[in-house]
Amino acid sequence: MALSNYTELLAYAKEHKITIGAFNALNMEILQALVAAADKKNAPIIVQTYHKHVDFAGADYMRAIALAASECSKVKIAMGLDHGRSYEQARLCVEAGYSGVMIDLASEDYEYNVRETCRVVEIAHARGVSVEAELGTISDADRTPEEIAKGYTDPEVARRFVKDTGIDCLAVSVGTAHGEYKYEPRINFELLKELVDTVSCPIVVHGGSGTPDEEVAKMVRMGVAKLNVGTDFFNAYNDALYRFYQEHTPHCDIADALAEARAAVERVALQKLDVLTRFRV
Ligand code: 13P
Repeated sequence: MALSNYTELLAYAKEHKITIGAFNALNMEILQALVAAADKKNAPIIVQTYHKHVDFAGADYMRAIALAASECSKVKIAMGLDHGRSYEQARLCVEAGYSGVMIDLASEDYEYNVRETCRVVEIAHARGVSVEAELGTISDADRTPEEIAKGYTDPEVARRFVKDTGIDCLAVSVGTAHGEYKYEPRINFELLKELVDTVSCPIVVHGGSGTPDEEVAKMVRMGVAKLNVGTDFFNAYNDALYRFYQEHTPHCDIADALAEARAAVERVALQKLDVLTRFRV
């Protein structure tokens, strides 16, 4: 199957009462593991490349791997740029054939964020590519819940921003954070509900790693359209390789080591998709 865009997948999510897993990959084995899990669970997913990993792996390479995986898969797969830092980076990914791009200028002032996001929307939509943007601050997970709460998304600004830009989905700050949590995450479900119910585009939650399953299930129930997960996959990958090399000579067949890492990522992806599709209709 060719790559789908976010809009198609987010509409599927709404219809079937699931949340789309937006899973980060930066090489072939991780991407294969994610798509294999999606196939097993019959759940469409977005595979996405973190902006730094686009610089590392190359947008053309990542898109080629995603396309190959998508063509072997029976479920719809979209390919996205995660936390794109500039119009230029988003354009690079649009031109490389990504089907979705995120432009994250949440730390800039409102006018600049709107202006640059509109430029991305214009080139992306011309090619059928979806656009995600962010409002509020999604902190790193070593922050306290009180610090994280300072960056919560303002619903009124969010409603205006979506109208001003024409984006396809909006990432919001409601208590989750990126990376490994130092403190138990405290999610503001009241705020999340207001955002889901009153913002005129699908809502995205980031920082899915380490967020307890019951909290994620609650977000699924509330209609969160897309949940981003990265760190849990990368940790599974690293841990499997670490274990493998403790037990084997370093001069072994690389494929044996990578097979362990790939299987470990797939197991985590299957667990995530279990929760994200728990209420499927
Ligand atoms: P985690 O690495 O905490 O899962 O966050 C991923 C993410 O939100 C990518 O945008």
